[in-house]
Amino acid sequence: MSAKAQRKILITSALPYANGPIHLGHLVEYIQTDIWSRFQKMRGHECTYVCADDAHGTPIMLRAEAEGITPEELIAKSSEEHQADFAGFNIAFDHYHSTNSPENKYFAELIYNRLKEKGYIARKSISQFYDPEKAMFLPDRFVKGTCPKCGTEDQYGDNCEACGATYAPTDLINPKSVVSGATPIEKDSDHLFFELDQFADMLKEWTRAGHLQTQIANKIDEWLEGGLRGWDISRDAPYFGFEIPGEQNKYFYVWLDAPIGYMSSFKAYCEKSGLNFDEYWQKDSQAELYHFIGKDIINFHALFWPAMLHGADFRTPDAVWAHGFLTVDGQKMSKSRGTFIMARTYLDHLNPEYLRYYFAAKLTSRIDDIDLNLEDFAQRVNSDLVGKVINIASRCAGFVMKKFDGKLADSWSAAAQALYNEFSSKSEEIAELYEKREYGHAMREIMALADKANEYIAETAPWVLAKEEGKESELHESVSVGINLFRVLMSYLAPVLPKTATDAWGFLNLQTPGWDDVKTPLMGHEINKFKALMTRLEMPSIEKMVEASAQSLGAKSAPDGKKDDAKPKKNKQENKMTSENAQTKDTGGFDPLAETITIDDFAKIDLRIAKIINAEAVPEADKLIKLTLDIGFEQRQVFAGIKAAYNPEDLIGKLTVMVANLAPRKMRFGLSEGMVLAAGPGGSDLYILNPDDGAQPGMRVK
Ligand code: MSP
Ligand code: ZN
Repeated sequence: MSAKAQRKILITSALPYANGPIHLGHLVEYIQTDIWSRFQKMRGHECTYVCADDAHGTPIMLRAEAEGITPEELIAKSSEEHQADFAGFNIAFDHYHSTNSPENKYFAELIYNRLKEKGYIARKSISQFYDPEKAMFLPDRFVKGTCPKCGTEDQYGDNCEACGATYAPTDLINPKSVVSGATPIEKDSDHLFFELDQFADMLKEWTRAGHLQTQIANKIDEWLEGGLRGWDISRDAPYFGFEIPGEQNKYFYVWLDAPIGYMSSFKAYCEKSGLNFDEYWQKDSQAELYHFIGKDIINFHALFWPAMLHGADFRTPDAVWAHGFLTVDGQKMSKSRGTFIMARTYLDHLNPEYLRYYFAAKLTSRIDDIDLNLEDFAQRVNSDLVGKVINIASRCAGFVMKKFDGKLADSWSAAAQALYNEFSSKSEEIAELYEKREYGHAMREIMALADKANEYIAETAPWVLAKEEGKESELHESVSVGINLFRVLMSYLAPVLPKTATDAWGFLNLQTPGWDDVKTPLMGHEINKFKALMTRLEMPSIEKMVEASAQSLGAKSAPDGKKDDAKPKKNKQENKMTSENAQTKDTGGFDPLAETITIDDFAKIDLRIAKIINAEAVPEADKLIKLTLDIGFEQRQVFAGIKAAYNPEDLIGKLTVMVANLAPRKMRFGLSEGMVLAAGPGGSDLYILNPDDGAQPGMRVK
């Protein structure tokens, strides 16, 4: 490490909610962060990676109640499971904490008190839905009713899945409490607001000062232009969280103390490691602070959190880095398809290193979604890792053992040295790619080197040399260079494949190396017997995993609404790819049948073949596509909630089926003159009916 200055770096991943298991979507983030952490450590920096369970809030309180345990018991159980899952994927946190901890209570109170002293906290009475049976106020997601815009039943209190309208829960027709089924009443209570508008200038500057990805800074500009409103940071009892000092029966909203969990986890780590907390968090800190998050929680990290820190006289983050969402085989993870895969289910069937590599190969510094294509996954892992990298070692090791007593050559030809130098001199370039979170690019560079190493072995053909007389030293050079090239590749891959790397160091008889160790080749060095470092990924194992995931369906417990009313309305567009819908809405195709109707009832529905002659996304609605339908005798305009499932362009020219005699409905974006039929639980898991060719627009469907 010599010349380079040692950096002090603190990094975090978002804190997973304590009321659900870790799934492959989560792992995009923890794997991305872990790779970065391991990379920085290998570079010799003082890098600390902390995380915690996000343990507070209404969903956790109600989940515990439904399971007949205390919230403390629930979160203890989750914490254990989460940590076991993370360990299974070789995620090496320096510390894993809980937001329900004394450290977090201390910092939540400290920050709140400082904000209050400085006049950033306001009190306002608001009217909210209240469940008279449960005697509790209801977050938006805990009220359901009929959409006031389109009349679809069973919609959540914040937005309509059918027409995309957003509204207040009090706008719902026939609202019901998800918790008890009771009709909620409106009730007033005082709430505390963090006055974000006082930070408008600070945030305008901060969000444009290079702390955010460009895509995000642009999005935030839009929010800032729309003006900032106070952020409601209090919740009334009953609530599982920290009581607000100086108030009666009021608790900090879960999102107030969640990011503070980063500080408290680090604080707890300081106690055991001797690091200096203030050095990392005080206003003029020279240490670096980075938060890895998913794109659904940008507003909390890029607006509220920096403002809170600034207002309370702490340092702000150097960067907030968001990643995209995971899709599986091109679609949102789905329980019914078995692609909603829990970390534990994966571990029951597959080697975690495969997924770490695959995610690395797909990750960039941008916030695009990343797709786990299961066939490509198997193919990629087998061809790159097993076929290219591990293969080098297995091809050379036997000769080194058998012919040279496990000893590598102690001198090489100039050509061999040049090849080695070519490999080791890539070290800074690859480091730069890791540093910038361009892992996919880094993996491509490494695999290009692996191809070169394999070419070298094919050309020198040790298996041929071994059979010829007097080729001892050529053979020794060939396999020694091969092993050395393998060592360089393994060193570059070590942040991604920690377990395989550790096994490789054992085989190579090396201590855990630093990043720059590859500058010196292994000459005259003794290695150990080779053991298979990784086996091929077999498609049947993937199939079994998918099957097991489809089977673990059904086990639905507790109320809906994984997240409570977390997000400000205007950010809705950003939130559509969250997993919560998949977790809460997908019934796995097991919808009970509707009530029986007579043939006369059915005859009242005028179903017609329609040809989609135009389709456009409705920019203001995150679920809607505007369809122009030809039904032979006329054209209709229909707004269909299928944006998550279809590209508008792909629909043009298709035949489908519409309800032609549905009363027209005025929507925010225009008149909707009918309804298109589709099957599926919703979101991206939705399929429009598509009659065979031959059906003509206007034909009646009977
Ligand atoms: N508890 C909050 C975070 C508080 S941070 C102070 C939360 N928890 S979560 O469990 O829902 O998500 C944890 C992290 O995993 C988030 O960054 C989220 O974006 C990420 N992911 C959850 N599902 C994901 C995918 N399907 N794909 C990629 N990342 C996903 O949000
Ligand atoms: Zn609606």
